Amino acid sequence: MDLKNIKIETQKEIKNAKNIKALDEIFRKYLGKKGEITQIFDSLKKLSEEKKRKIGRQANLLKNEFKEEIKKKLEKIKKEERELKLKKEKIDISRPGKKIESGHLHPLTLIQREIEEIFNSMGFEIAEGPEIESEWYNFDGLNFPPDHPAREMQDTFFLKQKNREKLPPSKKFVLRTHTSPAQIRYMEKHQPPLRIIVPGRVFRHEATDAGHESNFYHLEGLMVGKDISVANFKAIIEEFLRRLFKTDLEIRLRPSYFPFVEPGFEIDMTCLICKGKGCFLCSKTGWLELMGAGMVHPNVFKNSGLIPHQLNNEGWQGFAFGIGLDRLSMMKYKINDIRLFYSGNLRFLKQI
Ligand code: PHE
Repeated sequence: MDLKNIKIETQKEIKNAKNIKALDEIFRKYLGKKGEITQIFDSLKKLSEEKKRKIGRQANLLKNEFKEEIKKKLEKIKKEERELKLKKEKIDISRPGKKIESGHLHPLTLIQREIEEIFNSMGFEIAEGPEIESEWYNFDGLNFPPDHPAREMQDTFFLKQKNREKLPPSKKFVLRTHTSPAQIRYMEKHQPPLRIIVPGRVFRHEATDAGHESNFYHLEGLMVGKDISVANFKAIIEEFLRRLFKTDLEIRLRPSYFPFVEPGFEIDMTCLICKGKGCFLCSKTGWLELMGAGMVHPNVFKNSGLIPHQLNNEGWQGFAFGIGLDRLSMMKYKINDIRLFYSGNLRFLKQI
């Protein structure tokens, strides 16, 4: 091909090139190793001096023009591509946005935090205890006799241990059946006067139904001083319930038995679902069992290294209570089945 034809041909090809790849091919076709323009330069050496100079000059001109055109076209293509990309990326600000799912706290966490806030405001500190507990803290230290039915298989999850029978209670482990062991743990390390609550997970070997689960949450309360009485307990619990349920409600104290309190009682409150008429939740009694409570047993003080109240007014006395957080949450949020808390069912969790 002569120079003139190359010029016409390159201009046509560059004009028709649609993308960078095509342009690159054209460049190589003419200026590559065996390219058309390259070949002209290669053939110069066969020519006479005069022709060499003339054609050489023309070839140089052509080469520069060609390069210039390629460069211009490249910029044009790049610009077009940028514009196309921008067009595609255009944001339509009138379009409805994508909803981003955000989580929230579990109803049990919510109730726990709310209760902690109420007790905090009444001067109670928050303490904790382990979920795997020794039999000593869970039972013996709390004045449970060795043959107490609560230790039996229907109630307690025992940890498998080698030669378990031969171990002392402090070395035999169970999943704690209540948060009361934290009473001793705390009093071993802290001198009264003291006020604590201990929220935490507890475990019982139970058949599950709408009101029972094999793992659930308790909240222990403990207040100890020189003259803390049942009257203090009643005042604090009433204040607590009024604030939690934001309504005036009735409670009643029934005599009851727990080995680690004396006297012991059970607290019931008006069933909030049926308002006392009787329903599935309160087993048609109109009352809900809310918590166990009582005055801390002298043996529990002794087992914690403290002197219980004496006639000469030496020593300590106080009350303890244990509330089921699940039950409170069920009442507050009108939930009719405890198993829902642990089911991981999003349709349930999203309602709160
Ligand atoms: N720990 C008892 C239970 O599991 C509740 C309780 C706590 C009773 C403190 C009295 C005092 O039922």
